[in-house]
Amino acid sequence: MKHYTLVTGASKGIGKAIAREAAARKHNLILAARSQNLLSQLAQELKQQGVEVETIAIDLLKDTSHTDLFNEVEQRGLSVNILINNAGMGNYGKFYKVPLEEHLTTIRLNNEVMVRMAYEFITRNKGKEHRCYLLNTASTASYQPVPKMTVYAATKAFMLFFSQGIRFELRRSNISVSALCPGPTHSQFFEPAKMDDIWHKNAKYMMTAESVARIALDGTLRRKAVIIPGFFNKLGAVSAKLAPQTIATATSGMLFKG
Ligand SMILES: NC(=O)c1ccc[n+]([C@@H]2O[C@H](COP(=O)([O-])OP(=O)(O)OC[C@H]3O[C@@H](n4cnc5c(N)ncnc54)[C@H](OP(=O)(O)O)[C@@H]3O)[C@@H](O)[C@H]2O)c1
Repeated sequence: MKHYTLVTGASKGIGKAIAREAAARKHNLILAARSQNLLSQLAQELKQQGVEVETIAIDLLKDTSHTDLFNEVEQRGLSVNILINNAGMGNYGKFYKVPLEEHLTTIRLNNEVMVRMAYEFITRNKGKEHRCYLLNTASTASYQPVPKMTVYAATKAFMLFFSQGIRFELRRSNISVSALCPGPTHSQFFEPAKMDDIWHKNAKYMMTAESVARIALDGTLRRKAVIIPGFFNKLGAVSAKLAPQTIATATSGMLFKG
């Protein structure tokens, strides 16, 4: 059976760039997101690389989406040996000013859906002969509280801890688990998160999704535990770990004050 790399959130941003990078490395791909038209366009482009590309349009916030997605993959006779668990969202503003439903949707997509996807992937692949790779997208926001992005940063801290925990549990298995911690990266993330103003000002400090994707796939295939793309993002993560948490929180509060 041919192996495929399944990328969630493949229609835009970092997921799309990882899909392009994987196609350049001759991975067969399954692209998942809600926007079928964007997935189809990307599939057409990537097939030019001589790889097989399938698309599955799905809203991952639906209760059964994780089983629906993996069942659809199986029905098509495909096998996923790499999961890029990437679809995510953010929101911006003081906690009590953002509608509660927005916070809960962020928690659901960034944590519950990612946990469900990881569970399906692991239970369907553990003990198989082939080597498997799970990459969970966290963030440099995983390393300290981020005022005005408090819920988002907390979901990303969860993903970092979750990834490291299951990585240890699976250390003697055929499945390697990595966490990707990008810093601010050019993508469409900032529009729905209503952070356009902040990032227009800081655009020159942001990494491209392409360079994040290259580093992400390199790290995943080398079975790195945590992948932080870019020198300044690494420096920021280390500083946040070493600094007293009140100072780390105040610093990120200044950076994200808008
Ligand atoms: N950009 C940054 O600065 C940055 C930094 C650190 C971490 N990250 C993380 O990187 C990941 C990718 O973000 P990005 O920057 O590439 O953002 P993006 O450009 O907004 O892409 C988000 C992707 O997630 C998909 N998605 C959103 N809701 C979905 C749903 N309900 N069901 C299925 N797919 C859904 C979107 O596709 P559809 O709209 O077509 O469904 C899109 O493909 C996220 O986990 C984010 O938290 C981003």
